[in-house]
Amino acid sequence: MRKNVALLGATGAMGQRFVQMLDSHPYFDLRLLISSSRHAGMKYSHVHWLLGDEIPEYVRDMQVESFEPNLFEKEDIDIVFSALPGDVARDIEGLLRERNYAIFSNASAYRMEEDVPIVIPEVNGEHMRLVHLQKERYGGFIVTNSNCSTSGLVLALAPLQRWKLEEVIVSTYQAISGAGYPGVAAMDINANVVPFIKNEEEKIMRETRKILGTYKQEGIEMHPAKVTASCVRVPVRDGHLESVVVRLDKDFEISDIKKAMREFKGISGLPTAPFRPIIVREEENRPQPVLDAYAGHGRSRGMSISVGRFTKINSYLRFFLLVHNTIRGGAGNAILNAEYAVSNGYI
Ligand SMILES: NC(=O)c1ccc[n+]([C@@H]2O[C@H](COP(=O)([O-])OP(=O)(O)OC[C@H]3O[C@@H](n4cnc5c(N)ncnc54)[C@H](OP(=O)(O)O)[C@@H]3O)[C@@H](O)[C@H]2O)c1
Repeated sequence: MRKNVALLGATGAMGQRFVQMLDSHPYFDLRLLISSSRHAGMKYSHVHWLLGDEIPEYVRDMQVESFEPNLFEKEDIDIVFSALPGDVARDIEGLLRERNYAIFSNASAYRMEEDVPIVIPEVNGEHMRLVHLQKERYGGFIVTNSNCSTSGLVLALAPLQRWKLEEVIVSTYQAISGAGYPGVAAMDINANVVPFIKNEEEKIMRETRKILGTYKQEGIEMHPAKVTASCVRVPVRDGHLESVVVRLDKDFEISDIKKAMREFKGISGLPTAPFRPIIVREEENRPQPVLDAYAGHGRSRGMSISVGRFTKINSYLRFFLLVHNTIRGGAGNAILNAEYAVSNGYI
């Protein structure tokens, strides 16, 4: 059965990616576009479009609205996607959850709440069971994405679990689109590198351990691995590159690590799920944002991560990964979460 969906933050960098990915979606009909008062009342065709292709035809004549809960009833909304800034998301998502809506959010506001799962379906789909607890408590529920760098990181770490993860040290090279629009001032980032992204390192360190953690009825038991993150903004438009150093409990061969990543399974039958979530590159200079950000095909373009440059150094495993920050790191993962929730009977 088709579902009516609303989009909060429809005019921002992430909101536009949602609009693009929901075009002709086989399950979801986008019925409501919400923004701040800056855009409310405008036709969507007047929004400053940041993505490569044209504004999709289906939204051009839709009017952007201010947040007003009654609009959700009027449009008979089943599912809400959120691309709101964290501070705004706290109130609006909380209010909609009390009104029985199913919310799939990119914002950080609820990620670390005990009864709210952060879900990457291929890695920890079973954490979505926390939805039942939220339904009992509030009526509706919130499922979140992780922060954009963490999404790629946990996908790469999931197949390594058989060697038992003890420690993860990650250094990120993050794209400008990760800061939203207009984001970082050109004067700060042009031909430059900025070794500070507010709260990003803390988010990676705790969200990675939550996603890789164990589902318990009242919440998630955090994974015991130590995680250390260092984050840097670089003058790249889309795609976060990450250098990952991992200490495993058991000895390993690089060939076995690559095999485990290549064989890591996608979720079959969901429209936005990539057949291969991890693409192993053998070239000496890959992955790269320009060449690998849109890995994958059709509706799941940008949903696969690319990994490469595997080395064993002083018994540590070292490799690089590349994740598209607004697709797997944002809108695409939220849409996949909603597809997963529908197909598993949570909605
Ligand atoms: N960009 C990424 O790669 C990325 C990755 C993962 C997670 N996220 C998270 O996703 C969320 C959105 O990020 P973004 O990069 O798209 O930010 P953005 O470009 O700044 O967009 C923010 C959106 O929220 C709307 N908004 C702001 N205040 C509002 C209010 N009071 N009521 C209703 N709408 C309001 C804005 O509307 P106006 O345009 O009218 O102001 C805009 O549509 C953030 O929580 C961010 O942390 C982003």
